[in-house]
Amino acid sequence: MPKIKAARGYELRCKSWRQEGILRMLENNLENAEKPDELIIYGGSGKAARDWECFYAIVDALKNLEDDETLIVQSGKPVAIFKTWKNAPRVLIANANLVPQWSNWEVFHELERKGLIMYGQMTAGSWCYIGTQGIIQGTYETFAACARKHFKSNLKGKIVLTGGLGGMGGAQPLAIKMNQGICIAVECDRKRIERRIKAGFCDMVVEDIDEAIEIAEQAKEEGEPKSIAVVGNCADTHPYLVEKGFKPDVVTDQTSAHDELNGYVPAGYYGDNVEEAYELRRSDPKKYIELSMKSMKEHCKAMVKFQKRGSVVFDYGNNLRGQAKKAGFEEAFSYPGFVIAYVRPMLAIGRGPFRWIALTGNPEDIIKTDKKVLELFPEDDVLRNWITLAEKYLPWEGLPARVCWLGYGEREKFALEINRMVREGEIGPISISRDHLDSGSVASPFRETEGMKDGSDAIADWPLLNALLNCAAGADLVAIHNGGGVGIGLSTHAGMIVVCDGSKETDERIKRVFKADPGLGVIRHADAGYEEAIELIKKSDLKAPMLK
Ligand SMILES: NC(=O)c1ccc[n+]([C@@H]2O[C@H](COP(=O)([O-])OP(=O)(O)OC[C@H]3O[C@@H](n4cnc5c(N)ncnc54)[C@H](O)[C@@H]3O)[C@@H](O)[C@H]2O)c1
Repeated sequence: MPKIKAARGYELRCKSWRQEGILRMLENNLENAEKPDELIIYGGSGKAARDWECFYAIVDALKNLEDDETLIVQSGKPVAIFKTWKNAPRVLIANANLVPQWSNWEVFHELERKGLIMYGQMTAGSWCYIGTQGIIQGTYETFAACARKHFKSNLKGKIVLTGGLGGMGGAQPLAIKMNQGICIAVECDRKRIERRIKAGFCDMVVEDIDEAIEIAEQAKEEGEPKSIAVVGNCADTHPYLVEKGFKPDVVTDQTSAHDELNGYVPAGYYGDNVEEAYELRRSDPKKYIELSMKSMKEHCKAMVKFQKRGSVVFDYGNNLRGQAKKAGFEEAFSYPGFVIAYVRPMLAIGRGPFRWIALTGNPEDIIKTDKKVLELFPEDDVLRNWITLAEKYLPWEGLPARVCWLGYGEREKFALEINRMVREGEIGPISISRDHLDSGSVASPFRETEGMKDGSDAIADWPLLNALLNCAAGADLVAIHNGGGVGIGLSTHAGMIVVCDGSKETDERIKRVFKADPGLGVIRHADAGYEEAIELIKKSDLKAPMLK
């Protein structure tokens, strides 16, 4: 298979930067992919295009797309091009959406086998994945909030036990280290570990969990931040550690538990025999799923036991609890999800993951914009700490990119400044995007919208309205997905991209999109009764007709 790399430099292959920027984002997804040959970007089986024929058809379509046309992509297949408006999106995407009654993995896999549908995860199918660093910021913020809440400072001298070093989970060792903590990450696939170590996200690997504990205890004594990967399977190691009487300070997990067939690896498979598990997936999916569900039950049971022993335990958005409950473990939901525990107050004020990508490939553009964001918001200490650590620790992956959490008002201000910098030649064109995990763009009752104040957890109107609003506001790409993070049928979410080409027209689009996108999130939280959101609306330009 060809190795896809994002184009660099100023030469356009498309009719303008808006299309070219989107094409480079798609290519950048592949450049950062976990399994590029299969077009799988991250998150178990999250893909960027349905198959290679579709991929090349998308590339062709983007190259020929006029400035007033819109490309329509249905589950990774470019199905139509329509004449729309200059300020309308250039690309509209819908991935993995099924009518609710049929919205489950069984139906999805059946349709996938027929070649009719594609799982887009969150940023994979909407072409705004930027490598593991995209999630590092969120992971850093989450562990920082966790440390503030439970230890009244950072993670210095604390051992965090976790699992999974894939596209998202691979961010954990570094994010924990950035918070001064010690990470033990159990991963069954040696190749994944090697990749994280090579990228500088993890310090070392050991073959034996006991050895990892020894090293971690030593680091704890010395208060030294450290990250240790262990070749193992969480469904084996965790029950063993419970049995042994070990008590980590924090336990979480990022194995691909949301997908019992193509994500999670059952107990007993790790290291040298992990390929046998992959083979079993193909040869006997029914047996595989049975083993996988049973293992997740044991894995989750161990986490609940750690919690009973006094460890801080939280679910990190992979639906391990939901799977364990499905497998018959009634106490699975004993520990909270990370959003309800740490992230919701930020989402309520429209604060979320704002990310930007240097489309010409010049890292200097990111360094200059890093400086700019700190200049614009000098009072934000979390931001300053993050940018400083990011510059020190994060390697560039694919096109140089940065992510930081910004709130309502801040996103518009910074995006306008970026576009001005492009216009005045200080930097090359930049595209701005965000995770689907954001203030108003997701309904996911086991994750982002777990335990909403008014019980509106499962209402998917909000992410759908978010996507419609981003179209009306003129984002360059808008996408609606089903099943990201937690699995088919369990979430609805929307993504978007705006390409900063430096034009005045883009200034106008920015003013609309970066008000509307986080603004609807604030309104969604105010509607659910969150005080922070209500207060923000009262003192801002947001209009909410029914708000008392
Ligand atoms: N918290 C968030 O914001 C967030 C965001 C995106 C995705 N997720 C969820 O987190 C999970 C991980 O995402 P990802 O992109 O890293 O997925 P991934 O598929 O790239 O990686 C998962 C890793 O887990 C390993 N693994 C599977 N079963 C295991 C087991 N039993 N023991 C040890 N290792 C095992 C796999 O080998 C793989 O390396 C997914 O369920 C995803 O939906 C969470």
